Amino acid sequence: MNKYRENFIITTSEQETLNLAKKIAKLLKPGDVISISGELGTGKTCFVKGLAQGMGISQVVTSPSFVILKIYYNKIPLYHFDVYRLDKSFQLEEIGFQQFQYGDGITVVEWGDKVSEILAFDHLEINFYYYENDKRKIKITPHGESWEKRLNKSKFVKVTD
Ligand SMILES: Nc1ncnc2c1ncn2[C@@H]1O[C@H](COP(=O)(O)OP(=O)(O)OP(=O)(O)O)[C@@H](O)[C@H]1O
Ligand SMILES: [Mg+2]
Repeated sequence: MNKYRENFIITTSEQETLNLAKKIAKLLKPGDVISISGELGTGKTCFVKGLAQGMGISQVVTSPSFVILKIYYNKIPLYHFDVYRLDKSFQLEEIGFQQFQYGDGITVVEWGDKVSEILAFDHLEINFYYYENDKRKIKITPHGESWEKRLNKSKFVKVTD
């Protein structure tokens, strides 16, 4: 059986990253968690913008760096966390993170690798890497059967043996 493990995609512009995120948005189900990591300025917020557009959210997504969480109300709400400025995972738990990630909205965490120990087991991990100029290498890794199955079925990512 083919099993989707991880996949690298190279985007050559901000628009291509937005488009990739819009495709991922089509796979989303209430309660999903997405962790996005990568150096400063690699495109994490850009990806969240694309997710929001793909979810039908008309508000423009901006970086929540100074507020940790921004909520975009929608048929399925989007909880956009940015934990760059947090020192410890428990600080995130203090603001009710568990209720958000185990709720019915979509929880997205920028700098998710900083809080990986409190992330739900089932989640989609996205890692951004600078490549050259406006190119970014984007690694997509499913955690848990649900994301594995969805990525296996999707046509825009390659399936590995
Ligand atoms: N292929 C690409 N994909 C995404 N963004 C790109 C790409 N090429 C260039 N960019 C530019 O890189 C920047 C990415 O900014 P963005 O705020 O999304 O990064 P970030 O990872 O969220 O940063 P931070 O770590 O500060 O939160 C934007 O200015 C965007 O125009
Ligand atoms: Mg950002």
